[in-house]
Amino acid sequence: MTILLNNNGYDNESWRREISRQLPELPVKVFGEPIDPNEVMYAMVWNHPAGDLNRYPNLKAIFSLGAGAEHFVADTSLPDVPIILLADPAVARDMAAHALYWVLTFHRRYGDYGSQQKERVWHRKQIVPTREFCVGVFGLGRIGTEVASRIHDFGYAISGWDRSNRKIEGIDCFSGAGSLPEFLSRNDVTINALPLSPETRHFLDEKIFAAMRPGGYFINISRGAVVDDESLLEVLDRGHLAGAALDAFAQEPLPTEHRYWSHPKVFVTPHMSGATFASSAAAVIADNVRRLELGLDVFPLFNREAGY
Ligand code: GLV
Repeated sequence: MTILLNNNGYDNESWRREISRQLPELPVKVFGEPIDPNEVMYAMVWNHPAGDLNRYPNLKAIFSLGAGAEHFVADTSLPDVPIILLADPAVARDMAAHALYWVLTFHRRYGDYGSQQKERVWHRKQIVPTREFCVGVFGLGRIGTEVASRIHDFGYAISGWDRSNRKIEGIDCFSGAGSLPEFLSRNDVTINALPLSPETRHFLDEKIFAAMRPGGYFINISRGAVVDDESLLEVLDRGHLAGAALDAFAQEPLPTEHRYWSHPKVFVTPHMSGATFASSAAAVIADNVRRLELGLDVFPLFNREAGY
């Protein structure tokens, strides 16, 4: 009855401490420590080596230590046990705060005031009222919904697009490919919160960027590979979009020679919008362990077919 912890070598001691605090009855062994494979009942992993989870014959469930699911998609030999993704509300809130920071920066022109201060210029920029500034969120899953709802709390005109029909208070919801032109043309800022899956890889392509409102901005808080980089650079270069704040990249760390680093309209942050802290996430994971032991539903389950 042991928990195998494999956070890919990162911050193992905090995870061990927080998981043990939440589930004191279960010993925790970190990947690499001597372990009898028969003992392992739960695996808690992030970017585990493909194939490793097949070594534990008594494994009852696998838990992710982060929000994304690419490490499960990359492993084609996953055992047939429930895989539970991590939905820590603290992460979604931090991501919403990050997106709001950029919405405010673009709407209220804080970048321009930084430049004006250097020249001692006192000049108030003309802007539209908040309720007329339109923000659109691609992907209305847990994170996208939190992002849209928190930005709505500040009075922005908010809409969202998802593959399936959604109904969310205060948010104009669009769905399906047919509604993309209307959704895209109304937004001053478009935020990407779509999960990466085989279906969404390079979903934000030339056509999507070209359909965005001229002079608009783009924020990426999800995964870099959802974006076709050449198409984004093209709309920025020709002035169709005014700027982009990117937190996720197809290759991370972003290679030093990548054009994003030096592009005058691009703000690069190193995948920091929603860090997972063991101090809050361990309680969410432990709650699902207890639910499993009581035979209750666990949430959210990784969908092997959809890949997220
Ligand atoms: C971070 O991007 C995560 O998936 O937790």
